[in-house]
Amino acid sequence: MQPENHYWIKRWSEDYFAVNPLGHVVVKPTRQKAEGDLYGLMKSLVAQGIDAPILIRFNGIIRDRLHTLNSAFQNAIQEFNYRNTHRMVFPIKVNPQRHMIETMLEAGRLYTLGLEVGSKPELIAVLTLENIPESMLLCNGYKDAEYISLALMASKLGRQTLIIIEQAYELKLVLDTAAQLGVDPQIGFRMKLSNPGSGRWKSSGGEHSKFGLFAHEIVSCIEMLQAQEKTHLVKLLHFHLGSQITTIESIKKALQEAAKMYTELANMLPFLSFFDVGGGLAVDYDGSKSATDSSMNYSIEEYARDVVYIIGEACLAAGVADPVIITEAGRALVAHHSVLVIEVIDVTAPPTSKENWKILEHPALLKTLNELEAELSLKNCRETFHDVMELKNRILEEFIYGKLNLKERAYAEKMTQLLLAKIRTFYQQLRQIPEELEELDKILLETYFCNFSVFQSLADSWGIGQLFPIMPIHRLDENPTHQAILADLTCDSDGKIDTFIGDQATTKYLKLHTYTGEPYYLGIFLVGAYQEILGDLHNLFGDTNVVHAEVAENGQWELSRLVEGDTVEEVLHYEQYNTEKIMTQLHTLIELSLRVGRITLTESAEVKKKFKQSLESYTYLVV
Ligand SMILES: Cc1ncc(COP(=O)(O)O)c(C=O)c1O
Repeated sequence: MQPENHYWIKRWSEDYFAVNPLGHVVVKPTRQKAEGDLYGLMKSLVAQGIDAPILIRFNGIIRDRLHTLNSAFQNAIQEFNYRNTHRMVFPIKVNPQRHMIETMLEAGRLYTLGLEVGSKPELIAVLTLENIPESMLLCNGYKDAEYISLALMASKLGRQTLIIIEQAYELKLVLDTAAQLGVDPQIGFRMKLSNPGSGRWKSSGGEHSKFGLFAHEIVSCIEMLQAQEKTHLVKLLHFHLGSQITTIESIKKALQEAAKMYTELANMLPFLSFFDVGGGLAVDYDGSKSATDSSMNYSIEEYARDVVYIIGEACLAAGVADPVIITEAGRALVAHHSVLVIEVIDVTAPPTSKENWKILEHPALLKTLNELEAELSLKNCRETFHDVMELKNRILEEFIYGKLNLKERAYAEKMTQLLLAKIRTFYQQLRQIPEELEELDKILLETYFCNFSVFQSLADSWGIGQLFPIMPIHRLDENPTHQAILADLTCDSDGKIDTFIGDQATTKYLKLHTYTGEPYYLGIFLVGAYQEILGDLHNLFGDTNVVHAEVAENGQWELSRLVEGDTVEEVLHYEQYNTEKIMTQLHTLIELSLRVGRITLTESAEVKKKFKQSLESYTYLVV
């Protein structure tokens, strides 16, 4: 197998990432010629003092994702003679980082890209961002009078704001607040679907979903509007089936139900003209093109064709004008654009030889282990495996009952690891591979410790077991010979990654290269959606360094928008620790220690200096 094929890069990369003849991962934002060497970029960042972990955002990939989704809809509109347009609206909860949103808006001008917000802070965050006046601003989420006032003021300031009614009580609040402010609100209804979605977030759709109006609530809202002669205010119907919808069948069913609802409402609401099909367009994280939670059984093109066709057919049948189709795809637009590069800092692995060992012969258990090792062969390897497993259990027993001291126990443990590693090599040579190989692989799994926090950078891996493609970004001209799991810096047993993309299904290890102590970088791919904002400060590991990168025609990197990761002082501040107070308390402690002669004056100056330096440093290890 080619070294790079251990990571199934061709399956999940959508051609944005590949491996060059030097064995380095390259990034191809347009999926075509121009490519940048990711390892080269990493080396130059480190040379500039920007260390791993670092999140690298590729602006070109965002542009390509927008282009891809837009083209899929334009083609479908042409194919089915659909008599209206498609508009993309990006839900900022998917990645609200300002630099990302600014990049998105710059790239989205071509398509009149709009934004969707779901809370007051999100609304305030985007209100002052530069965007073209025709682009839409959709206000979702639970609302109070203040949120509604802000949205209405945004309309006054020239923003195309639509307030989406998610809960029945909101309509009265919107009408009352609008009357007070003297504005005509533009309103949308979010409907609750009877059809659930598929995948991990299927409960976002269906009758028990948290959001949206039941059919009877929509009818009551329309009656309220009719009574006030305000049905003209409703412009949009919206549904959202959930995120990462894995099967096209569930999307089609939802569309059929929602399209019927649209055509019914179009007869009651004269200005209804936007049909917002929400988000949910999935990302094929494991590249299996299947209905598993980390994949999808359809393409963007198929999705667009189904959306356009089903809405068009329903409108034709009902004699209703085709609406503007709005999509709120989030993860499908941004997941691919960022890569987290982490560095391996240490490895625990079974010994591979007895070189430099002091051989112990006593007590008897150690002698037996030595003999098993000396006599191990292809012929007796299975029998030896059974013997070693039995002895392995005896080591602890003999230690507890005082028959082995600590040094002897350590020797016995090392020897069993060596024996098992050697047995595995023999097993791999056997014509019929013994069933215990799986058990052996598990026992001998190595742990590669990496400079990052799962909780800060890969919340969905920890929280819901989401798969992300992970692979070394260099040495891909060399066969990876180690089977490993990854452990992060946190003091938490959950701070690890032990499930990876495999051939058919997932595997419990990642193939990695021998760690030599030289920098060894791994890339965690497709992390551009949700991961940054869901991350937390477990163990007070803060935001990582972030940089935006563009690949020029000649393959050179152009960097912009460098944001240094949190310092120790910043994360302490988030938890209400005041640095001034910390320093004052430190001075008191130093004074006390000086007084009783625990430290010298020079040492006291050194402590102060070190403390200050640490407060200003990156929260991750500086290796
Ligand atoms: C209302 C709404 N629209 C759009 C999205 C984006 O979904 P996705 O990122 O799966 O496209 C979400 C997220 O779940 C949402 O709640």
